[in-house]
Amino acid sequence: MRGIFFGNSYYFCKNVLMIMERKKFVVIMAAGSGSRMGASRPKQFLEIGGRMILQRTMEIFLEACPDISVVTVLPEDFISFWREHCLEQNFICPQIIVPGGITRFHSVRNALSRIPDGAIVAVHDGVRPLVSSALVGSMFSMAETVPALVPVIPCIDTLKVLKNDGGELRTVEGAVADRSVLYAAQTPQVFHSEVLKQAYSLPYDTSFTDDASVVQAYGKSLSYTMGERLNIKITTQEDLLLADAVLALKNRD
Ligand code: C5P
Repeated sequence: MRGIFFGNSYYFCKNVLMIMERKKFVVIMAAGSGSRMGASRPKQFLEIGGRMILQRTMEIFLEACPDISVVTVLPEDFISFWREHCLEQNFICPQIIVPGGITRFHSVRNALSRIPDGAIVAVHDGVRPLVSSALVGSMFSMAETVPALVPVIPCIDTLKVLKNDGGELRTVEGAVADRSVLYAAQTPQVFHSEVLKQAYSLPYDTSFTDDASVVQAYGKSLSYTMGERLNIKITTQEDLLLADAVLALKNRD
């Protein structure tokens, strides 16, 4: 029987259908300036539990998928700092380093120029070091069969729709947020690389606050899986305290 290729996923060999796994990539987003933290350096380069946040985040992906290829997106002026840190810490992670862009969207687009079609690519915030390697591993498995997979958690707070009127918060009459249909999206978001790359050919829009919103605007449907409540995006000083406490508890187990 002749070999038949569908994308890069399937081919027939004699009478057996072979399923080829797509090569795995992760894009680690770490080119933000971290202005909301008010620290001396961007938050991804601060430490929790005695190790740099960015290093911890990358270790989780290496643990989940030891054969993964890593693209790290960094602020241009922290690239040599990061290289030196990896050397000093003997942190062995083959990685392609890419300079970030003006927004997260532009940073992702820079990274995607280094990813081939026919792969699976996870895009993950470098400041989410508490995601479990179990979730990462299971998302890569699930994404073999769906083109776009997003981890979400149900909204537990009651949400108010307000407007900021010169510093004063005011009710928007008639606007009600129905909590039963609201979920918070997390990363890693995992995609067939050709789908994500095509979506990122769209012009930038301020509504693109994550990769799923770009893929959706491109007209592709999204699949969802349950995220993790502890997979927080470290953004403020309080988040740093929380992350430290979570790690201390995990290490006690
Ligand atoms: O700004 P936001 O909290 O959405 O950032 C999420 C992630 O995207 C962070 O890990 C940050 O470093 C990264 N980012 C980036 N390039 C930018 C802005 C944010 O890589 N221009």
